[in-house]
Amino acid sequence: MSAQIIDGKAVSQQCLKAVADAVAQRRAQGLRVPGLAVVLVGDDPASAVYVRNKNHACQQAGLESFSYELPANTSEADLLALIDELNDNPAVDGILVQLPLPPQINSQNILERIRADKDVDGFHPYNVGRLAVRKPLLRPCTPKGIMTLLRAYDINPKGQKVVIVGASNIVGRPLALEMMLAGATVTVCHRFTQNLAQEVAAADILVAAVGKPHLIRGDWIREGAVVIDVGINRLPDGSLCGDVEFEVAKQHAAMITPVPGGVGPMTIAGLLENTLEAAQTRD
Ligand code: GUN
Repeated sequence: MSAQIIDGKAVSQQCLKAVADAVAQRRAQGLRVPGLAVVLVGDDPASAVYVRNKNHACQQAGLESFSYELPANTSEADLLALIDELNDNPAVDGILVQLPLPPQINSQNILERIRADKDVDGFHPYNVGRLAVRKPLLRPCTPKGIMTLLRAYDINPKGQKVVIVGASNIVGRPLALEMMLAGATVTVCHRFTQNLAQEVAAADILVAAVGKPHLIRGDWIREGAVVIDVGINRLPDGSLCGDVEFEVAKQHAAMITPVPGGVGPMTIAGLLENTLEAAQTRD
């Protein structure tokens, strides 16, 4: 058996189209075009690619995008001052500061300075807390994109065993909250997990979000499981691969996301949906 490939690119295009239609409608009604400010500090090549993709998607959906590229030696005070300015700028509905930040900047201080109603990454403790108490407002983009992708393929996590490998603030933790909200039984694995293979083998839905190429061996996957691979890792030959050993995993799984073209585009779709939502909230 070979798994069905889950096409995140195609689903994300549908999401972008829905955002573009809503933006066009706002324009026609004389409402503000939603604006997204994207801040990149330093010259991490992977971050530069993500930021370029985000700006491109904004253009595609007809959103206004404001791009800020700051040098790697930017101080925390200077970045906080920019956040204050963007918080006060009425043309900016969403603020995204690309992570990771250089070591002289405390990321948490930055994320907590962003106004919660402009926090389109959903990383402010207020928004994380809203999700934790089952009253979500702006939701973290990658978990949101994964839930959208599952829905597009009629995969309902309710009552399913969901195993998430990786407990990061960006993906693993908020995804665990999303999955609980959707009625799943959730296990989160991390560096102290004792028997990863055994945990993975129990999953109806497996999500790998670690950033380690091929950490998850294909023959660990339960027959008929759904596999969502969030990892985007660059191999020495320049090619991209996920956290899951794709070629073997697809012989066991019923459905699997590719890398690239799986979760990556859905994260951007989630971001644009959040920016539209933030604008609607502030109208
Ligand atoms: N770095 C890796 N993923 C993300 C993300 O979703 N948002 C931000 N701001 N930075 C990231």
